[in-house]
Amino acid sequence: MIPVILSGGSGSRLWPLSRKLFPKQFLALTGEQTLFQQTIERLTFEGMQQPLLVCNKEHRFIVKEQLAARQLAVQGMLLEPFGRNTAPAIAIAAIKLLEEGRDELLLVLPADHVIEDEKAFQQSLSLAADAAERGEMVLFGIPATSPETGFGYIKCDMNSRPGLTEGVKRVLQFVEKPDEERAKQFVESGEYFWNSGMFLFRASVFLEELKKYDMDIYDNCMAALHRSQRNGDEILIDPATFACCPDDSIDYAVMEKTQLACVVPLSAGWNDVGSWSSIWEVHEKDENGNVIKGDVIAEDTHNSLIHGNGKLVTVLGLDDVVIIETKDAMMVAHKDKVQDVKKLVNRLDAQE
Ligand code: GDD
Ligand code: MG
Repeated sequence: MIPVILSGGSGSRLWPLSRKLFPKQFLALTGEQTLFQQTIERLTFEGMQQPLLVCNKEHRFIVKEQLAARQLAVQGMLLEPFGRNTAPAIAIAAIKLLEEGRDELLLVLPADHVIEDEKAFQQSLSLAADAAERGEMVLFGIPATSPETGFGYIKCDMNSRPGLTEGVKRVLQFVEKPDEERAKQFVESGEYFWNSGMFLFRASVFLEELKKYDMDIYDNCMAALHRSQRNGDEILIDPATFACCPDDSIDYAVMEKTQLACVVPLSAGWNDVGSWSSIWEVHEKDENGNVIKGDVIAEDTHNSLIHGNGKLVTVLGLDDVVIIETKDAMMVAHKDKVQDVKKLVNRLDAQE
C-alpha cells in the first residue's frame, strides 16, 4: 500500500496564521508536530510503504525541513507549478506508479487532518484494503453528527449486501457541500457519512474510472508527467501542459459518478481542522470554555479561541469569538462565521 499525500491546499479559512506560502499543513496547530509531520508519522507501520507526496513546488523546502526535523522520509515528491485540485494531483501520482509497473493500492490522504485514534484508523484501513483488493473505490466515511457545510455527504445503504465485505457500505448518493438546510436533514436521517477526503483504491482502477468520466484530466496529466523535469526523487510537473488540465476535485470528477464507490466507516477522532471553530473543538478548553494561546488576558469571556502571537491580547465581555493576532494582521470573528474567512482572504487577494 502506497500513501499518496496531498499537500497542495492553501488553508485560507485559517487566515491569518495560514498563508499561501506557509499553509496550515505546515503549522503546529494541534500539538508539537505540524499536521504534515503528524500525517507522515502516522503511516510508519508495517505493510505501509514510504509516501509519495504531491505538493506545490513553492513548498518543497518547507517539506524537506519538516521531514528532516522528524527523520521522516518520502519515496518521491511530485511538484505542482500551481494547484489543479485533487483529481489531477492523484492522477499524476497514479500514472507515475502504474508506468513503473507498480499497480498498487493507493491510500490518498490529505496532509492536514487530525486522527486521534491510530488503532481505529488502522482497523478501518485493513477492512478497506479487502474491498480495494477486489476493485472497489473506498471512501473513508465519518458518521455525520452536525450540519457542517464544508463537507461532502454520502448516503449509504446501511444493510450488509452480498458480495460486499462485512462492514463496508454501498454508496447510494453523494452530495458535495450541501447548504445548511439539507445538511441538517442529512444529519437527522442518520444515514449519511461525511466524506473524509481519504480514499483507498488500486492505481489502475482509479485511472480507468477517471478515463471514463474525465478523459481531459487523464490526457493532460499523462502529458504533463511525460514532459516533467526530474531531479532525483523530485519531479517538477510541466507547467505549460498542466495549465491545460481542468481544475477539479476527485469528489466531483470521479467519486460522485463511479459505480465502484463504497464507504468504510471511520470513527477515529477525525477532524479536518479546516476552520478556526474546528481548531477550538479539538483543543482542551479552560473552565470558561476558552482555548487560549500566547499572551492573553480574557475576562468575562466564554467559548472563544484567542491566539496571541507577540502582542498582549486583552478581551472583555465577549462570547463565541475567534481572535487571531499575528505580526502583520489581526482577525476578530464570530465563531459561527469562521467558515467565511475565505471572504476576507478573497478581498485581500483582490487588493494585491
Ligand atoms: N497536491 C494538491 N494539489 N493537493 C491539493 C490540491 C491541489 O491542487 N487541492 C487541494 N489539495 C489537498 C488539500 O491540501 C487538502 O489536504 C485536500 O487536498 C482536500 O482539499 P480541500 O481544498 O481542503 O478540500 P475541501 O476541504 O474543500 O473538501 C474535501 O475535503 C472534505 C473533508 O475535509 C472534499 O473531499 C469534501 O468532500 C470532504 O468532506
Ligand atoms: Mg479541507
